[in-house]
Amino acid sequence: MEQAAPLIDPFARPVTYLRVSVTDRCDFRCTYCMTEHMEFLPKKEILTLEELDRMCSAFIRLGVRKLRITGGEPLVRRNIMMFFRAMSRHLESGALQELTLTTNGSQLHRFADELFAAGVRRVNVSLDTLNEEKFARVTRWGRLPQVLRGIEAAQAAGLRVKINAVALRGFNEDELFTLTEWCAERDMDLTWIEVMPMGEMDGTDRVGQYWPLTELRAQLGQRYTLTDLAERTGGPARYVRLEETGQKIGFITPLSHNFCESCNRVRLTCTGELYMCLGQEDRADLRAPLRAHPEDDGPLIEAIRAAISRKPKGHDFDYSRQRPDGQVSRHMSHTGG
Ligand code: 5AD
Ligand code: SF4
Repeated sequence: MEQAAPLIDPFARPVTYLRVSVTDRCDFRCTYCMTEHMEFLPKKEILTLEELDRMCSAFIRLGVRKLRITGGEPLVRRNIMMFFRAMSRHLESGALQELTLTTNGSQLHRFADELFAAGVRRVNVSLDTLNEEKFARVTRWGRLPQVLRGIEAAQAAGLRVKINAVALRGFNEDELFTLTEWCAERDMDLTWIEVMPMGEMDGTDRVGQYWPLTELRAQLGQRYTLTDLAERTGGPARYVRLEETGQKIGFITPLSHNFCESCNRVRLTCTGELYMCLGQEDRADLRAPLRAHPEDDGPLIEAIRAAISRKPKGHDFDYSRQRPDGQVSRHMSHTGG
């Protein structure tokens, strides 16, 4: 595949990381992510697996080095392994450095071996609680034992597992240490995410749910010795090492900190819209040039370049006035986490 000039945004940030939502559907209904009765998109709106391949391959040609597959829940999309296997050709050629995914873990027991065979080496699994009853409450439709089985299968297949937990005031505050220890025992890193104002959520009180990670970090510091790590992934996460366990703990703080200056990523929805920033409404329709020119990627590549030239400096999320300012109207399952 011939290499084109790389993607550089107006603030001189190279865009090397693409997150791709392959479906808006999910087999869970997490309270902070979805309403109980979500309406999903009609099939014709959704990019086919072949179209997803063309999209991703175009980005890789433009210098994307890391691809993260998200949803909804990516592993509920039919034949998704075909897409993973197709992307592995870019790993083999060396064009792509990493192919990875974020999953709720419900289908991992079925797909762990195939993911590894396709070249995936790491997965992020979302897990907010280790309590079965609380897990059922927060995910509405999820069952904890199935996810735990998936995590075990992933590790057995050779995948490195990182746990993502959304920090929820009054929900998992009391599990800070149990989750930390549980991950340490299994050699897994753990990243905490501040709850973000995404999508209307049947009366859920966002500000009340908000458990600032500054506070979480201070609590962690009472039991463990925290060493700041310089490591940056170009994303919002900041990491510390717990000296006692050797484990890495991440903090994703879109609200209490601004991390946009080093942003290297863009997000493609399952309908082919490119969001240049998670916290802004601006987007570019890439599906139209893709579908209008089945044999020619030129117009698609032009559209990608035009979109990147509009990448904004940063987001406007702000809870400081005790209401979720800067809220964006779409749900996380639409843009992908
Ligand atoms: N705020 C923070 N994190 C969220 N996620 C989904 N919705 C939200 C939200 N409103 C998380 C999921 C998963 C990742 C993809 O995004 O729990 O870890
Ligand atoms: Fe599904 Fe993830 Fe949203 Fe939960 S947070 S409903 S697992 S997409």
